[in-house]
Amino acid sequence: MKERRRSPAGSQGRRLGQKDARAGRLILEQLGGLDDMQEQTAMGDVDLAVVDTMVTRYGTESDAAIPILLGLQDAYGYLPLEVLQRVAEKTNITADQLYGVATFYSRFRLDPVGKHIIRVCHGTSCHVRGVVNITQAICEELGLDGEGTTEDMNFTVEKVACLGCCSLSPVIMIDETVYGGLTRNKARKVIKRWVREGAE
Ligand code: FES
Repeated sequence: MKERRRSPAGSQGRRLGQKDARAGRLILEQLGGLDDMQEQTAMGDVDLAVVDTMVTRYGTESDAAIPILLGLQDAYGYLPLEVLQRVAEKTNITADQLYGVATFYSRFRLDPVGKHIIRVCHGTSCHVRGVVNITQAICEELGLDGEGTTEDMNFTVEKVACLGCCSLSPVIMIDETVYGGLTRNKARKVIKRWVREGAE
């Protein structure tokens, strides 16, 4: 799994440490703290049943944090605050530790994403071949200022590292479909088609 920065957990099997907790506390402070999170949980409209399923499947100790979070993200599309709080309640993994993991690995998301994910490769080859312009064209087409999710929640645009098909660069991937050899105009046409046909 791609890491955002030096691993706090080392590997999936290593116990979470103080650095995880520090990272988690920092994020909690930025988000308004545990009290706010608990308040959201009380108000929450997220079905939390899947949390119990994941905890039963993977266990309650810290080495279960990553598989639980992966399972939850698959289920919800992202990791809602109330879901993380529920995991903390149901396991021996603290909310701080969960945040440390969730914010460390780029694979995890703390915000909801659109129905379709547009991954724009910003690897070296794509960068050299003008992906910045492609990104701009895509965002303009979707009415976005930059990376992010459209208001209708149909599309999320995100920059990613090499998609592994550099000979096609510049490359984007929409859900599971790869589009290569893009120009600004080609990218616009692809997006228009998805807006027209792919987001119903
Ligand atoms: S750099 Fe874009 S696919 Fe490799």
